[in-house]
Amino acid sequence: MAPQTITLRPHHPGDIGWIIHRQAAVYAEEYGYNNDFEALVAQVATHFLVHYNPARDRCWIAEADDQPVGHVFLVQHPDQPTTAKLRLLLVESSARGTGLGSMLVNECVQFAREAGYLKITLWTQSDLHAARKIYQKAGFHLVHEERHESFGKQLIGQTWDLYLDPPPPGEPSHLSVRE
Ligand SMILES: CC(C)(COP(=O)(O)OP(=O)(O)OC[C@H]1O[C@@H](n2cnc3c(N)ncnc32)[C@H](O)[C@@H]1OP(=O)(O)O)[C@@H](O)C(=O)NCCC(=O)NCCS
Repeated sequence: MAPQTITLRPHHPGDIGWIIHRQAAVYAEEYGYNNDFEALVAQVATHFLVHYNPARDRCWIAEADDQPVGHVFLVQHPDQPTTAKLRLLLVESSARGTGLGSMLVNECVQFAREAGYLKITLWTQSDLHAARKIYQKAGFHLVHEERHESFGKQLIGQTWDLYLDPPPPGEPSHLSVRE
């Protein structure tokens, strides 16, 4: 099959509802997660829409042939203004294995640097093996693990962090995140 041409764009009206749908459907099919997961995704996605600030938050939609095939979010941590959270990474199975997941994570890291964040943190589950590989490749380190029962499953949650270099002296951060 010829390689697909992928383009990335910001979210438009209708995309966030689609993201909730795809997250719930893919995790149900591939990992057996129940509706509690859809509820969590809907909360995260709604918070993004309601509190969206383009200087510190971003959603990327990946498209192939004008069809959405992936997405990811980078948002400001609610309690730690210089920390960003990477959330809701997903690539449709038709577009996997060609580097799109890594591309989306790299976009997050680049935006976080430009925005002036000092750290990116993310929460994932131990059985999401492909995601783990992507985070390791991007330089994230596993900092915490905990067993929990969520989404109808016994899971091991993991927190991964990536520390970003502060901008050189004299180069202002354009972000409101530095206080
Ligand atoms: C995780 C996910 C985004 C990866 O998307 P992708 O476009 O296939 O990612 P990439 O092609 O950039 O890289 C995947 C890497 O994982 C590896 N990989 C794939 N499946 C794997 C598995 N089961 N175990 C270990 N590694 C695996 C690939 O070989 C590749 O590594 P490489 O670059 O060294 O060859 C996609 O599989 C997905 O959406 N999964 C379901 C949702 C999910 O897990 N999201 C993460 C939430 S924390």
